[in-house]
Amino acid sequence: MSCVQYDQNISKYCKYCICILTLKYVTVLIKQMESPPVASKLGQEEIIYLDWNNAFDILEKAYRSGLFVLVIGPKGTGKTTLVRRFASQMKKELDSVNFSLRTRESHLVGSRTLNKGEINFVEGVLVKSMRSGTLLYLDELNAAEADVLLRLDEALDDRRQLVLKEAEGQVVKAADDWFVIATINPLSHVGTKELPPQLLSRFPVRMRLDYPPEDIELDIVNRHVKIDDSKIRDIKHAIQLAKSLREAAAVEELYYSPSIRETIAFAKMLNTGLSGRQTAEIVYANTYDQWGQVEYQKVMDMITSIFGDS
Ligand SMILES: Nc1ncnc2c1ncn2[C@@H]1O[C@H](COP(=O)(O)OP(=O)(O)O)[C@@H](O)[C@H]1O
Ligand SMILES: [Mg+2]
Repeated sequence: MSCVQYDQNISKYCKYCICILTLKYVTVLIKQMESPPVASKLGQEEIIYLDWNNAFDILEKAYRSGLFVLVIGPKGTGKTTLVRRFASQMKKELDSVNFSLRTRESHLVGSRTLNKGEINFVEGVLVKSMRSGTLLYLDELNAAEADVLLRLDEALDDRRQLVLKEAEGQVVKAADDWFVIATINPLSHVGTKELPPQLLSRFPVRMRLDYPPEDIELDIVNRHVKIDDSKIRDIKHAIQLAKSLREAAAVEELYYSPSIRETIAFAKMLNTGLSGRQTAEIVYANTYDQWGQVEYQKVMDMITSIFGDS
């Protein structure tokens, strides 16, 4: 083979390689465009929720009918998780307000701010949610002050609008798919007040969410924590203890009612190698010590009768 021929072959071979490499590069680029960036994958975090009492179906029906929902139930019965799961499944953006005595009207509606010598109105979460038709989650609504509730009432009535006296009387109209779910804790909870009847009537779909039956609670824990067969007995005991503590708290024999969150924590701590009794003391009994020795001892006695004394 002559040198010239050899050179021509090399050059053909190079062109062939460049072609293949370019093709590969384009394929990788297309693949990258198809798969979303890591951030948005993180945003789609899976929310674990076992719909044991068909709450999801009622929420969906209320949403389709344009009726706002009030969820009533003690802390830790899964109210927030239910709403987060609902929003994610319905592909609705979620805006949340967690009410307390410190929640101000300006937090909901917005406030004027001074920026580089100019006064601007910065919209609050209620206004933003109405305009963009998100799911507005009003958590522990009965912890809010009367003036805050009054402002909400204006937005929630049939006109679904808000007059911004803070911004030259601008009228904010809610988007058609705007949806609101509120939760209230039972009145026995510290810091809770009765909702004014007219505000109550803005939420005509009322759902009760209570602690689930024992077998369902076990199923819920199972979805959060991998449970080894050897641990099932202790977890069933913890659920039984939680149930007794909740019953005692309901009749004001004890100050505190443990939530499902505690049962999940129990299972996690048990997995670290602690005994059932030790874990029960850490997760349950020690909480009651803040109300004195008598309260703590009552719970320790319950632990002994359920878990035994070693
Ligand atoms: N039905 C359920 N399915 C899965 N997890 C649940 C369920 N109910 C409660 N949980 C878990 O229990 C804990 C407390 O729930 P949360 O939604 O915060 O209750 P609440 O808002 O009523 O106080 C969370 O860790 C949640 O994941
Ligand atoms: Mg909550």
